[in-house]
Amino acid sequence: MAVREPLRDREILRYRKRPRIVHAMLASSFLVLLFTGLIILWPALAGLAPGGLTRWLHRVAAVVFMAVPFVYWFADREGAKELMIDSFKYDRDDWRWLKRFWSYAFGHTANMPKQGRLNAGQKLHHASVMLISGTIVASGLVLWFFMPSLGPTGQAWAAVIHDLSMLALALLLVGHLYFTFVYKALSGMTRGYVDRDEAMLEHAKWVEEVEQQEAAETEEETEKV
Ligand code: HEM
Repeated sequence: MAVREPLRDREILRYRKRPRIVHAMLASSFLVLLFTGLIILWPALAGLAPGGLTRWLHRVAAVVFMAVPFVYWFADREGAKELMIDSFKYDRDDWRWLKRFWSYAFGHTANMPKQGRLNAGQKLHHASVMLISGTIVASGLVLWFFMPSLGPTGQAWAAVIHDLSMLALALLLVGHLYFTFVYKALSGMTRGYVDRDEAMLEHAKWVEEVEQQEAAETEEETEKV
């Protein structure tokens, strides 16, 4: 019978505690915004909004959502910078990877070009989240503070931009969850570690880099002894 390595040897650190807390803040505030937003928008759900509770919750979640980039910056500046740069920088392998996206979407990674810490799909997702969050926040602030001075056309435009941006992020979330579960990435955001073999399927270049670093550190330690 094959002997399995202990869990930690088969795993690789993907996210430290601080970025995981920031992500939990982003995900929970977004979900509250989405559900309270649906209740405000959809008359059939209005019964779920007694008094002003839903509107109040929507505003509290909006403040948390807007605080996310600042919290990320102060809690883990290197991680925040890395995310910003990686999400908007695409190399030749990324473009080749995107051409084969459908193969990856159906769980086939055999002929995919090797990817770094973020694969090209994640880069596109994260960059879209940042840009679309900008339109959500801008239109939301307009609706919150400048409603009376807008006039009916301005109000309608702000509402349409706000609702369509929210819809776009909700659709992106469906894809984000799908790939999280297909490629068993959830533990990266819950415990911080992911299975090395699974990570190889999505981020081979990154796994190789981390392993080289680990080997160099072990060599340094051995030389010291
Ligand atoms: C609600 C359930 C959610 C789950 C289970 C989930 C899961 C995950 C996982 C597992 C990762 C790490 C993927 C990797 O290994 O690289 C991740 C990263 C990320 N997710 Fe989510 N996510 C959720 C919601 C959201 C939402 C609502 C947004 C945006 C509005 C979002 C935006 C991001 C971003 C930007 C990253 C990259 C984080 C970084 O590198 O610091 N996620 N998510």
